[in-house]
Amino acid sequence: MTSHSIAVIKGDGIGAAVIDAAWEVLQAVAKGSGFALHDTAFPWSCDHYLETGAMMPADGIDTLRRFDAILLGAVGWPAKVPDAVSLHGLLLPIRKAFDQYANVRPHRLLPGVQGPLRTDRFDILCVRENTEGEYAGAGGRIHVGTPHEVAVETGIFTRRGVERILRFAFTQARKRRGKLASVTKSNAQKHSMVFWDEITRQLAAEHPDVEVTSYHVDAMAARMVTAPESLDVVVASNLFGDILTDLGAAIQGGLGFAASANLNPERGAPSMFEPVHGSAPDIAPLGIANPIAAIWSGAMMLEHLGETAAAERVMAALAATTARGIGTIPGKDRTNAITAAVLSALS
Ligand SMILES: NC(=O)c1ccc[n+]([C@@H]2O[C@H](COP(=O)([O-])OP(=O)(O)OC[C@H]3O[C@@H](n4cnc5c(N)ncnc54)[C@H](O)[C@@H]3O)[C@@H](O)[C@H]2O)c1
Repeated sequence: MTSHSIAVIKGDGIGAAVIDAAWEVLQAVAKGSGFALHDTAFPWSCDHYLETGAMMPADGIDTLRRFDAILLGAVGWPAKVPDAVSLHGLLLPIRKAFDQYANVRPHRLLPGVQGPLRTDRFDILCVRENTEGEYAGAGGRIHVGTPHEVAVETGIFTRRGVERILRFAFTQARKRRGKLASVTKSNAQKHSMVFWDEITRQLAAEHPDVEVTSYHVDAMAARMVTAPESLDVVVASNLFGDILTDLGAAIQGGLGFAASANLNPERGAPSMFEPVHGSAPDIAPLGIANPIAAIWSGAMMLEHLGETAAAERVMAALAATTARGIGTIPGKDRTNAITAAVLSALS
């Protein structure tokens, strides 16, 4: 029997509840589909930081490297540990060390979920560059605290980095409806974004079967609201992708439904799957976190592991659950009730 070993990091707040739910669903589908999923849990979180002085041990990355995939809940509890410490101590080092350069987020409405738009007919796959660009961390501050203080933050765009994320996006477009929207701001940013547009055109010539359109990020933000049905795969830099995928989460009904994958497409290191939302301190003790985003992220993990039929079964069970009105309204159904409904739809 095929067996996949998964590193499970529940993290903080609702991370534990939504990952418990997702794991229950993943185990159920694995049993019914003839493969095994083995989990190894790591308690890395803000509580772990308070106990040990680190979000994860010094050999944490080496430990994770031997797994087939990583399933993560949420990281951060600002009342205990500053966000900059928790983010830079766990999530970002994993994405960077494992070269998870493609951050992939599907944006579509599950049946029965009410979005804020007039249309419910859209199915967008956002691909965000996850390792360089505006979030490369290159820069500095001088004359700190004086009237002459200067802060510089430089975006880093490498040919290797831009080309590989665009190639990945072209491949996704080929697997879907054959349309790719490449997002820049090349009218204002005349170096990095013009460079991105040039590479887009070069790769477009290699993919004549993909219909490519370049958009400025402001126009794309408007399009995602006014004509989301016109979009298929959307590819953007780290910063632009970050912002557009929050917009994507909003139009698909909110953070309870927003799933994501941090992929190392070449599979040289494990990829990581996580709901987009954070630890939700405001509702963490209440038992009402929506586990759908985490379960959907789990389905993306199955897809990545090659268990495509099982991934489709999970997505069908989610759709059957929300079509019954379960899990569609924030706070109405408890985490346990939503999970039970998904399990029952699976069986
Ligand atoms: N990838 C991550 O691990 C990640 C992502 C975002 C935020 N964070 C961290 O999480 C902490 C809290 O951040 P925040 O409050 O800005 O964002 P958040 O996503 O935790 O919560 C924002 C709002 O959405 C609600 N919400 C989020 N997920 C939900 C779910 N599954 N079901 C129902 N409601 C849900 C919350 O109750 C809250 O009102 C911070 O420390 C932040 O840095 C981590």
